[in-house]
Amino acid sequence: MVKAIRVYELGGPEVLKWEDVEIGEPKEGEVRVRNKAIGLNFIDVYFRKGVYQPPSLPFTPGVEAVGVVTAVGPGLTGREVGDVVAYAGRPLGSYAEEQILPANKVVPLPPSIDPVIGASILSKGMTTRFLLHQCFKVEPGHTILVHAAAGGVGSLLCQWANALGATVIGTVSTKEKAVQAKEDGCHHVIIYTQEDFVARVTEITSGNGVEVVYDSVGKDTFQGSLSCLKLRGYMVSFGQSSGRPDPVPLSALAAKSLFLTRPTLMHYAVTREELLEFAGDVFAKIASGVLKVRVNHTYPLSEAAKAHADLEGRKTSGSVVLIP
Ligand SMILES: NC(=O)c1ccc[n+]([C@@H]2O[C@H](COP(=O)([O-])OP(=O)(O)OC[C@H]3O[C@@H](n4cnc5c(N)ncnc54)[C@H](OP(=O)(O)O)[C@@H]3O)[C@@H](O)[C@H]2O)c1
Repeated sequence: MVKAIRVYELGGPEVLKWEDVEIGEPKEGEVRVRNKAIGLNFIDVYFRKGVYQPPSLPFTPGVEAVGVVTAVGPGLTGREVGDVVAYAGRPLGSYAEEQILPANKVVPLPPSIDPVIGASILSKGMTTRFLLHQCFKVEPGHTILVHAAAGGVGSLLCQWANALGATVIGTVSTKEKAVQAKEDGCHHVIIYTQEDFVARVTEITSGNGVEVVYDSVGKDTFQGSLSCLKLRGYMVSFGQSSGRPDPVPLSALAAKSLFLTRPTLMHYAVTREELLEFAGDVFAKIASGVLKVRVNHTYPLSEAAKAHADLEGRKTSGSVVLIP
């Protein structure tokens, strides 16, 4: 038996229950991992609430962790007991002291990277990579708008985009978050709870607009984000922390020949080779200093409900990590 968080019914943070579960032994192609640190992601909130469909009920949430391999399935080569590995993506289940995973979903964690850092950055870092390099290719001279710029993904987006030579405009809800966003390379920070971000972006860009908006806030910002784009700009709607955006008529794009995409990491890091390439690039960005990792909050895994309430309540900045 190991301790894990279980969800029996969809709902608020209170549905996260701390329980004993039986996880069994790894089968062919699988490893068992004792988690040392678990990354909290807003996607965990979507699954808990049913915004995204969980695989079953009850289920154990969590899409990211770093841990030590404690058993390998029959005949498995390439992974050994004692390996320190990181993991981000499906299947769900990282809110547990131990879990069984497909061996091809885990990557070795470089010894120079602390497990807490690894668990705070793999999913968010790989997301940042595909957003800046593949979804829309950010280049020197571009001006970009990043919403929730002090959040987990937002902090990394600002740092990495700054290093690519872009002018970065970030939105945040508080003065404290504005200070962090500045430190992370935002050239202009807008407190969108106090200022009209569309008017400010228009002013900052002298009416030209931005090449791309990275919008993870959704409902509250989507329409304004479209207004911030220049002709033929890219609207990258990659999350919905404030709720699902309203439906968009095609004519809303025709007004400026805009591009709109709603991308997901799992459709960019699809193959084993891509996973290794993405993870390797994120680890390299930590080693080279492009990414400063902000683990601003840690909670015991048993207090996952408190961590969820704080993330949803916009009380957190940077990354949040759960410790089993
Ligand atoms: N598409 C993908 O593949 C992919 C992968 C990973 C993450 N994501 C998305 O990236 C986003 C960021 O994830 P994260 O884990 O790093 O979370 P996060 O950004 O640390 O937390 C969410 C932030 O959204 C902002 N926000 C604005 N309105 C909000 C509201 N009504 N309720 C709650 N938050 C609100 C808050 O920042 P302020 O207080 O500054 O407003 C809050 O801190 C999420 O939308 C997530 O779904 C997408």
